[in-house]
Amino acid sequence: MKGLFITLEGGEGCGKSTQIRLLGEALRAAAPGREVIVTRSPGGTPAAEKIRSVLKEPLPGDDLTAETELMLFAACHAQMCAKLIKPALERGAILLADRFCDSTEVYQGAARGLSAEWIREVCDFVRKGTTPDLTLLLDIDPAAGLARTRSRSQNPENDRFDSENLGFHTAVRNGFLELARREPGRICVIDASADAQTVQQNIREVCRERLGLF
Ligand code: TMP
Repeated sequence: MKGLFITLEGGEGCGKSTQIRLLGEALRAAAPGREVIVTRSPGGTPAAEKIRSVLKEPLPGDDLTAETELMLFAACHAQMCAKLIKPALERGAILLADRFCDSTEVYQGAARGLSAEWIREVCDFVRKGTTPDLTLLLDIDPAAGLARTRSRSQNPENDRFDSENLGFHTAVRNGFLELARREPGRICVIDASADAQTVQQNIREVCRERLGLF
């Protein structure tokens, strides 16, 4: 059986973590006996989870440069691909990932301003042909998304990305929408401003239409 690789992407506060958990539960119920893995980037393997802390936590006096950030995200993706994603797909699993290389193109490219061409080369080098079968882009107005994140977190300033300004998060949103325009066959835009139940129904509908799941 061929494995399936589905990613969820979107800006801060778009509800990815809730939606990926609900989707994982629904898939396990709909296809008992089929292996379903839910993972995240940065993270997913013990080493990549350690790199995640370096990427997320501010280190006063030694903030990461955009280039360092790119290399660390690329390192996470190299590790995830080799140790988690490829073996899982070879076993025929359905693998759901909260973010992958589209986030690198958008955050380090559109938002941090590194060369798009260079980022694509780095991403292609680490993922070696591993491309999602389907990407669900949860789209939300960045001000609304940030308000959700900041109401949840006691100290948003402890997260290097949550603490970025609205201009940064607007560039992230526009970058994702631009990617979706470029790759409509893979990336499907979902309105994430609706309530969680409606968003989940829409996600399952897309999984049904595009991948024959459910
Ligand atoms: P999250 O797991 O809470 O979404 O946090 C991950 C943060 O890392 C999020 O703000 C987006 C950012 N990110 C990048 O900048 N580049 C990447 O390649 C990935 C995977 C995430």
